[in-house]
Amino acid sequence: MEKVLIFDTTLRDGEQCPGASLNHSEKIQVAKQLEKLGVDIIEAGFPVASPDDWKAVNAIAKLVKKSTICGLARAVEKDIAATAEAIAPAKKKRIHTFLATSDLHLRYKLKMSREEALERISEMVRYARSLCSDVEFSPEDGSRTDAKFLYKALETAIRAGAKTLNIPDTVGYSTPSEFGKIIMGIKKNVKGVDGVVISVHCHNDLGLAVANSLEAVKCGARQVECTINGIGERAGNAALEEVVMGLKTRKDYFANLTTSINTKEIFRSSKLVSSLTGFPVAPNKAIVGSNAFAHESGIHQHGILAKRETYEIMQAQDIGLSANRLVLGKHSGRAALANRLKQLGFDFSGEELDKAFARFKILADEKKEIFDEDLETLAVDEIREIAAMWSVKSVDIQAGNKRKPAAEVILENLAGKRFTAKVAGVGPVDAAYKAVDKIIGEEVKLLEFGMNAVTEGIDAQAVVTVKISTKDGRSYTGKGADNDIIVASVRSYVNALNKVLGSAQRMQLAL
Ligand code: KIV
Ligand code: ZN
Repeated sequence: MEKVLIFDTTLRDGEQCPGASLNHSEKIQVAKQLEKLGVDIIEAGFPVASPDDWKAVNAIAKLVKKSTICGLARAVEKDIAATAEAIAPAKKKRIHTFLATSDLHLRYKLKMSREEALERISEMVRYARSLCSDVEFSPEDGSRTDAKFLYKALETAIRAGAKTLNIPDTVGYSTPSEFGKIIMGIKKNVKGVDGVVISVHCHNDLGLAVANSLEAVKCGARQVECTINGIGERAGNAALEEVVMGLKTRKDYFANLTTSINTKEIFRSSKLVSSLTGFPVAPNKAIVGSNAFAHESGIHQHGILAKRETYEIMQAQDIGLSANRLVLGKHSGRAALANRLKQLGFDFSGEELDKAFARFKILADEKKEIFDEDLETLAVDEIREIAAMWSVKSVDIQAGNKRKPAAEVILENLAGKRFTAKVAGVGPVDAAYKAVDKIIGEEVKLLEFGMNAVTEGIDAQAVVTVKISTKDGRSYTGKGADNDIIVASVRSYVNALNKVLGSAQRMQLAL
């Protein structure tokens, strides 16, 4: 059976979008989950962007064994060299290099002639091939590139040794039939195309990223670049879960094409990425939204009971959704916790496990029934705190309508030094946030504050999501969980501030 390769760029295009930045341990966790999900290629980052990006790609290259590890590089020698070095430890590795080819980009952004662009493609793909046997080339803004010039650019890349040609709809401008014709045109007119894989990379500015990707597959593309939950620049990229379930559910239409994705890991991957980036998934989001498999109306419920297929084209179990399961209780030990966390995809040991176990005990004392969702929330919260610049040690609140709200907050920095601040406020959250501000001293504005319960019941853990902005207008989201809503609020605020402080001074590259 013919296969469509799934190239995941959550850690590159997804992570580079405003507010989604992930710290080192969060990136590692996502990479491990992507490997479990079965993606063929993980685009782990853009190594030249900052030393932190380089380190993350390098660490993922050492860790992941099944998926190919890819790094992005402009068609510039120093980018390609940095990428080759970062991915060197990987068992399977790829350099992805790109150069814009539309007249608009060539003239205004790169100030380069078409001839110069062809020369650069040839030199840089050749250089990349001298460092790595698997090279992918992308003509950026490919969908708005003059067709004849696009063919020339692609032929040049093939001659220089590219094995994958990726066609980006960089600004999400194309429509499905137009994009399909671009792919067919390439298949028909580019010399040497039969020996390479045609890939597509679609953005969602007009809400067509998945439709364009699937049409491209129908027309001969055999690699799709996508992200979990469709996160990415501006309106995002094609959502992996939608592309994969589209191909699986409509294999009759897509000539039995397969992917290597273990669809049962889709829901877990979606939750992990949403929790770590702080980007919520809309309830009506296809495949992974909370309503995607819910049937509210009586007519639908009746139909489903009579025959599931009347209103369901996929099964919730196919994406790994299962009913809440009671898993552990207050008598469960450290080994049982470690074991269950491992089954959920979290490899905790040593100090990390000690910390998680201490939190689990407090949770189990207060909440009798501990579900997988509780453990996942706790684990993700712990990952957020690993190597964080600041972590929350304690929160003591005075609240209610009789006394003036006040908070005493103790935070610890990376060096293990503790700082305390006690401040009054309009309400308990305001007081606690002011105490955090007094310790950390970063000037930010709170833009959004939201709270959800992890499971049902009044004793459920709370997950708080905040969005803050810095003086230069950048926004960051943070998440935090706890049984106590004020503690969860402080954790989320500190998580967002850690992102502000840790955001690497990434080069402002025109992508
Ligand atoms: O959207 C785009 O064109 C890209 C390229 C780097 C492939 O992300
Ligand atoms: Zn992109």
